Amino acid sequence: MMKAVLVGCGAMSKRWLDAARQIDGLDVVGLVDLDAERAQARAREYELARAVVGTSLDAVLDQTKPDAVFDVVVPAARREVAFSAFAHNCHLLTEKPLADSPRNARAIIEAARRAGRVHAVVQNRRYVDNVRRIRRFLDTGVIGKPTSIHADFFVAPHFGGFREEMAHVLLLDMAIHTFDAARFMVGGEPASVYCQEWEPANSWYRQGSSASAMFDFGGGKVFTYAGSWCADGFRTSWEGSWRIVAERGSLIWDGHDMLKAEVVAPGRDGLIDNTRAIEVPPLDPADRVDGHLGIIKDFMHAIETGTEPETRGADNIKSLAMVFGAIESAETGRRVAIAQETQ
Ligand SMILES: NC(=O)c1ccc[n+]([C@@H]2O[C@H](COP(=O)([O-])OP(=O)(O)OC[C@H]3O[C@@H](n4cnc5c(N)ncnc54)[C@H](O)[C@@H]3O)[C@@H](O)[C@H]2O)c1
Repeated sequence: MMKAVLVGCGAMSKRWLDAARQIDGLDVVGLVDLDAERAQARAREYELARAVVGTSLDAVLDQTKPDAVFDVVVPAARREVAFSAFAHNCHLLTEKPLADSPRNARAIIEAARRAGRVHAVVQNRRYVDNVRRIRRFLDTGVIGKPTSIHADFFVAPHFGGFREEMAHVLLLDMAIHTFDAARFMVGGEPASVYCQEWEPANSWYRQGSSASAMFDFGGGKVFTYAGSWCADGFRTSWEGSWRIVAERGSLIWDGHDMLKAEVVAPGRDGLIDNTRAIEVPPLDPADRVDGHLGIIKDFMHAIETGTEPETRGADNIKSLAMVFGAIESAETGRRVAIAQETQ
């Protein structure tokens, strides 16, 4: 039986606890939140009568001595939670983003390495069926190597809370999912970025609700991202809407179920080469899916087998580097080289 303490009993904790209760061999032995009532409410809702409930992570870890900490706090508290987890010899699975600054991201990864603990991030939007299908399809090379990757993200949620007050809200709080999915689907290593942020007149966010970024992924691959968190009308899926252009064809995905590809065919119609539809094969049983549930299971598997999970912090920091590179570019108005994270 693996014992875990969950810290941060806000909105997202429901997703974690829904997943946790589907996993045999996982026992949530503690719930922590600065707001005691929130933690108590989750304990009641999930019938965790034996769980220790508290407002201090250190105190609950001392009392419960778990194997792992599930970190669902706001990004600003992530470093403090991580250091507390590792000081108690716990493995750590953390919500995205891995950290709220490059410095804190590196400090957390270094602390995990020193403690010899598994450290992974819930980058759940790569644990999505069609993301896996796209990666597998592109790897077959049927349409050649990807050259141009385009993602649109237009959703207009009224969350309230910390998002409406934070700086760089779209880049720091949401774009990480799209950037990480791009990096995963086409196997790109981000080298540089140019980005602009702006605040539309109707925005209900303090700063950075809309952004457009262009990344050089090296090896002839460019990734463009256009996004807004206050664009009413014609909303995209939470996964974004994608067009991936490769050397001999293209793929489009609406972020829902519509996933289509076309490959160049013999002949030309006037100016344009012929193309034909080509099937994107279904999910392979080996593909890692199921969002939070899949990631929590993989995290547990890594602990049990002494292996590294796919969304380990040392890899996820490369996606986070895209976010911080984009922020720096937006702040300076210049193209920015993205640090090669080698940890
Ligand atoms: N993976 C996803 O799809 C996804 C979706 C939404 C949010 N998130 C992420 O989940 C995290 C939490 O978001 P949320 O929407 O649940 O926020 P929230 O504000 O609803 O909840 C955060 C909770 O953490 C608590 N908290 C803050 N600092 C703490 C500390 N030091 N110790 C104990 N408790 C502390 C707060 O009191 C609050 O109850 C964020 O990092 C967010 O980016 C991920």
